[in-house]
Amino acid sequence: MGRLLSTRRRHPLAAVGVLVAVLFTTGGAYAALAPTTSQNVQAASSTQIEEGRQLFAIGCSSCHGLDGEGQVARDGEVLGPSLIGVGAAAVDFQVGTGRMPLAAPSAQAERKPVSYSQEQIDALSEFVASLAPGPERPPEEYLDPAAGNVARGGELFRTNCSQCHNTTGQGGALTMGQFAPNLTGVEPRHIYEAMLTGPQAMPVFNDKTVTPEDKRDIIAFLDSVQNEPNPGGLAIGRVGPVAEGLWAWLVGIGLLIGMATWIVTRSSKA
Ligand code: HEC
Ligand code: HEC
Repeated sequence: MGRLLSTRRRHPLAAVGVLVAVLFTTGGAYAALAPTTSQNVQAASSTQIEEGRQLFAIGCSSCHGLDGEGQVARDGEVLGPSLIGVGAAAVDFQVGTGRMPLAAPSAQAERKPVSYSQEQIDALSEFVASLAPGPERPPEEYLDPAAGNVARGGELFRTNCSQCHNTTGQGGALTMGQFAPNLTGVEPRHIYEAMLTGPQAMPVFNDKTVTPEDKRDIIAFLDSVQNEPNPGGLAIGRVGPVAEGLWAWLVGIGLLIGMATWIVTRSSKA
């Protein structure tokens, strides 16, 4: 044993070499990712805003007005609220989940097949953002579930979200014919934007109450509950851990019995 250790210790610089290599790779990965992040946040050109204005005039102005000021019908019914100050994040969420353009008045605008390409959604977002400042679309770095802390995200979800969306995000009924939707399969950017803009009956969770890191942890938690393999049987409250616990218990007890038998046979031989 001692000899093995001393041969390994002959190269004390090896550990330093590994550390340097790791730092270089992470640094390189960061450098490769960082420019896309900043591009994503700025990127509003005047041609893009102009394209957005035209799309808006055709698809949205009948309810929201040509300049997003909102429209009220002659009988006083609000056709569409003012979009002044709702920001690019609200447009990206509403149009990116197919809620807008609204097809028909209902208790709640629901998720539908998306009617625009992401490029067109970006143009619409930039047009609305050009009317007045508002919440921006989230930077990519806060959207990667792999970078978030699942356990912390679970705690944050139980404190802030589960009273409406249920403990694992399956959703649930609210009052007045409204409901909190199931969050399975919702894209990270739309989860982030929902928190940032608070659509309809959902409260706003701004970056002070729920920081960008917190939002990323919540995204990681929702990603983990979705990718949890279904244990089978009746889906009553997801009893996965029970089955895993039973398995661990059986293996553990099996090992203990094996060891006890081994000790007994050994001591009886001696
Ligand atoms: C048929 C009418 C109608 C059309 C067309 C329509 N909207 Fe809306 N929109 C509404 C109504 C009503 C609401 C508010 C209630 C709701 O959110 O369900 C709303 C809400 C919104 C919101 C949320 C505002 C907030 O305070 O967060 C955004 C953003 C939005 N619309 C963008 C658009 C865009 C962009 C288009 C075009 C692609 C569009 N809408 C087309 C009626 C419409
Ligand atoms: C008071 C109840 C309530 C709370 C608390 C709440 N939500 Fe919501 N949430 C809603 C409702 C209602 C909607 C549907 C809004 C709509 O359709 O425009 C919604 C929609 C969403 C959506 C959009 C889902 C889709 O199908 O596109 C996401 C994502 C979401 N919520 C995440 C969260 C997260 C994360 C939290 C906690 C930080 C949270 N919500 C807290 C009521 C709530």
